[in-house]
Amino acid sequence: MRSTRWKAASRAAIALAGAGALAAGMALFVTAPASAGTTLGASAAEKGRYFGTAVAGFKLSDSAYTTILNREFNSVTAENEMKMNATEPQQNQFSYGAADQIVNHARSRGMSVRGHTLAWHSQQPGWMESMSGSALRQAMLNHVTQVATHFRGRVVAWDVVNEAFADGSSGGRRDSNLQRTGNDWIEAAFRAARAADPGAKLCYNDYNTDNWTHAKTQGVYNMVRDFKARGVPIDCVGFQSHFNNDSPYVSNYRTTLSSFAALGVDVQITELDIQGASANTYRSVVEDCLAVARCNGITVWGIRDSDSWRASQTPLLFNNNGSKKPAYDAVLAALNNGTTPTDPPTDPPTDPPTDPPTDPPTTPPPGPGGCTATVSVNQWTGGFVANVRVTAGSSALSGWTVTIALPSGATVTNAWSANRSGNTGTTNWTNVAYNGQVGAGQSTEYGFQANGTAGSLSPTCSAR
Ligand code: XIL
Repeated sequence: MRSTRWKAASRAAIALAGAGALAAGMALFVTAPASAGTTLGASAAEKGRYFGTAVAGFKLSDSAYTTILNREFNSVTAENEMKMNATEPQQNQFSYGAADQIVNHARSRGMSVRGHTLAWHSQQPGWMESMSGSALRQAMLNHVTQVATHFRGRVVAWDVVNEAFADGSSGGRRDSNLQRTGNDWIEAAFRAARAADPGAKLCYNDYNTDNWTHAKTQGVYNMVRDFKARGVPIDCVGFQSHFNNDSPYVSNYRTTLSSFAALGVDVQITELDIQGASANTYRSVVEDCLAVARCNGITVWGIRDSDSWRASQTPLLFNNNGSKKPAYDAVLAALNNGTTPTDPPTDPPTDPPTDPPTDPPTTPPPGPGGCTATVSVNQWTGGFVANVRVTAGSSALSGWTVTIALPSGATVTNAWSANRSGNTGTTNWTNVAYNGQVGAGQSTEYGFQANGTAGSLSPTCSAR
């Protein structure tokens, strides 16, 4: 089953679950207790989301850099190390050392990895830049296949194709050597990626697609709608969201995110930076993501201003000396006080279900007052992440318990957005303070990471 869910990493998740239980006990007079996250990653995980950053491999030896990285973030994107020129510098000679170093740094600390990027007109190796026609198409597909295969099981989402649409008013494709191999190059890349790594979410990623009224935004939207209609394997759309004076944040950004989500894809903010780092603008971006149920994560494009590709714009959350900027405080506060995934979705009711329609339910439909739980697993050699979706029946829930029997050899190592009892054999999971109230027919999610092999898990759910 192709059903990787977002791995909200959780170095702090057990602490969070404890904090949630504490908050539950104090929740008599407040309907929405404030969450207690103290880092970007932990606070995002409380909302069922990740908070990531671009990482430059050569900075992993800078302890000021890694201190912030390891403390604050639970998702990582290689800033340059997975691009075509880095991974296939000579045709058919693949080079993964720098990327593997970043992936290992991230995964050994419980952070998930976004893959960036398999096919792009820019940062191509020289040999590819000078290719055309069917030889180029073949070389591109080989690249997608080889690279996605190398990272299979270690990358939760790939930017399969990056920046394929033109700026300006045309709403059409950007001219490039890849585009000139035929308009179907994008779907061919997605199909190759799916075949190579069926467990990864496959994203289209672009910039200047934030303003709902822009032709470029509409062009990408129409492509995604067409892909969904024709069964081209696409799971997500990345919004780079490099905001600056020429391409500012606009208040219809939330409409853009929710409109794409309504097509049946996840949306992510993949390369966020904001010229001047206005705290208010950062807050708005976070609130917009939290307001869209399928906006499942935010990545900032670097840690300190000095790490930014646009350092002179001071667009990031940390000063050059590593101290938190006002924008950091605004983001953390927005993550802690924003709406939760259990709130009524802002997506139009025409939203298709999150799970592919071909997914058989793992439990029968609930009666009145009951609930169901389904689980999706991202397995790798020796471990897995399980994301569990709890769905209320025809009545609202005011609390829930999920029971999952783990096969022998499987041991839970950490968890998020639920209280746990047991880490082997029969495990019981109950809601934390902020996700016990689930409206009739609505869902919430929690997750856990475990050693061993998941096999097929059959969760049961009961109201409490
Ligand atoms: C940028 C990197 O940050 C720079 O280090 C590099 O020199 C150029 O690329 N859109 C993308 C990213 O998808 O890959 C780009 O990253 C920024 C714009």
